[in-house]
Amino acid sequence: MRKPEVSEELARRVVAALRRAFDVDLDPSAALIAVSTRDGVDYQCNLAMSLGKRLGKPPREVAAGIVENLELDGVADRPEIAGPGFLNFVLRREWLEQRVAEQAKDDRLGVAEAEQPRRVALDYSSPNVAKEMHVGHVRSTVIGDAITRLLRFAGHEVLPHNHLGDWGTPFGMLIEHHLDEPSGDRSDLNAFYQAARRKFDADEAFANRSRERVVKLQSGDPETLAFWQELVDESTRHFNAAYRRLGITLTDDDIYGESFYNPYLGEVVDELEADGLTEISDGAVCVFPEGFTNREGDRLPLIVRKRDGGYGYAATDLATVRYWTAERGATDLLYVVGAPQAQHFAMVFAVSRAAGWLDGVHAEHIGFGSILGADGKVIRTRAGETIKLSSLLDEAVAQAAEVVAERSQLSKEEQQEVAHAVGIGAVKYADLSSDRERDYVFDWDRMLAKDGNTSVYLQYAHARIESILAKAGETAEEAPVLLKEPAERALALTLLRFSEAISAATSAYAPHKLCTYLYDTAVTFSRFYEQCPVLTAETSELRASRVQLAKLTSRTLVQGLGLLGIEAPNRL
Ligand code: ARG
Repeated sequence: MRKPEVSEELARRVVAALRRAFDVDLDPSAALIAVSTRDGVDYQCNLAMSLGKRLGKPPREVAAGIVENLELDGVADRPEIAGPGFLNFVLRREWLEQRVAEQAKDDRLGVAEAEQPRRVALDYSSPNVAKEMHVGHVRSTVIGDAITRLLRFAGHEVLPHNHLGDWGTPFGMLIEHHLDEPSGDRSDLNAFYQAARRKFDADEAFANRSRERVVKLQSGDPETLAFWQELVDESTRHFNAAYRRLGITLTDDDIYGESFYNPYLGEVVDELEADGLTEISDGAVCVFPEGFTNREGDRLPLIVRKRDGGYGYAATDLATVRYWTAERGATDLLYVVGAPQAQHFAMVFAVSRAAGWLDGVHAEHIGFGSILGADGKVIRTRAGETIKLSSLLDEAVAQAAEVVAERSQLSKEEQQEVAHAVGIGAVKYADLSSDRERDYVFDWDRMLAKDGNTSVYLQYAHARIESILAKAGETAEEAPVLLKEPAERALALTLLRFSEAISAATSAYAPHKLCTYLYDTAVTFSRFYEQCPVLTAETSELRASRVQLAKLTSRTLVQGLGLLGIEAPNRL
């Protein structure tokens, strides 16, 4: 059994006191305990104000009742009541020292594993075959991968699935173009796609061949399927190259493209029809889920089978819901897809719920905003051109190499490795550190700045600690932690919040919460380091304690960055 988080520890005691004082039952999660921003106060409880109303008592009286009945067992001093009825908690030094020492011994740094592990089907990345990944796919890839790592660390099972856009009418023209130029240049997928498109628009015979090819593809003609597979494989090689470079955990086993769901589409429609959920509208089989209308107030359809008998994007997503719940036993369905598809997913979930496919299942669209350039439009290179992912990463690594070269003691080769970690880290961190639901501005200078909430800052902070530790040499692992100075205490309190930060980031699928925490940690460490000499501490006990704190900070940064999918080299 892992220890409760600090705020939870206080919450449980407050709730117990409340029961003793007023015979009121409250869940500890509702105890309104928060980290205090006031000097000399560690945590604050704001419960008395809201409970005052409920109990018909002045909040200060409620606060006093709680304080009188608190059993503190050496965790904190008896709290002082401030203002309208805040409780100001100051944790006991010995207790904090003990907790930090325990956390240092724990390879999970105090983070508990889920008591009820969930099986989470997570749709992310999901680029389209025969097209370059665009920035939206990059966001989905980076955010989805961080969520995968966070969920796995929390002890959940993650079933990643990469919903490749590998099916549909464009594949007729793509296959024909592929057959015309079997060994043509494929280094630029967009160029390949556009060339096929141009031919389709200009050449009637080509367009007809393409249409016939779609029919062959959909009827499962083996030769056509083989050509199609070549195209898919080629694109997959491109995507995999990007994943490897970005340090993304997705593999070929995680590919569940649109085509995968073909065999299920008929059943999906049959079941919806049998449930009486469908209507024919304009010759298409549609479901009109309740509560979805356009501006004119007309009901909005989810088209499950088109007039020509074909299936589209919506039908395929209904099949994903059915497959991952019924066939794979997922308890949660998460889709990491850009915000513009919010309504699509809301409708897919509504129909699935009506069909009974989501009973006891949590389904959520993990939406995200766009990446904008400084001008508020799509991102560009420094030279002002639009960029492909691979060029964007090249540029990030090149710029990181300059940043690293400024004051690095490393050899040229080592610098190259480090530049990779710094450049790729910066691209990912820029994406992860802002609230995913919002658009963010892609800014090379800010992204690679050595100060501020950037991965570069965190990587430098970590490398600096590692260099201190290297100079400190071997120290006793079990050295007692001493927290006499305010800066030591502040660092300890921050380190003890790691588990809270992880839970907050994981439960809201919000990696930026972890970023903010890591930044806080690095800043708090740097204040500690300014005020508390480590290597030249006055006594050997103090030195050993501070080395322990430094070591724990380093591990926290490495673990946190690792969960974001970002490397932390020991030397920069
Ligand atoms: N390929 C789609 C696109 O590029 C994203 C697919 C997202 N996943 C899904 N199950 N619909 O927009």
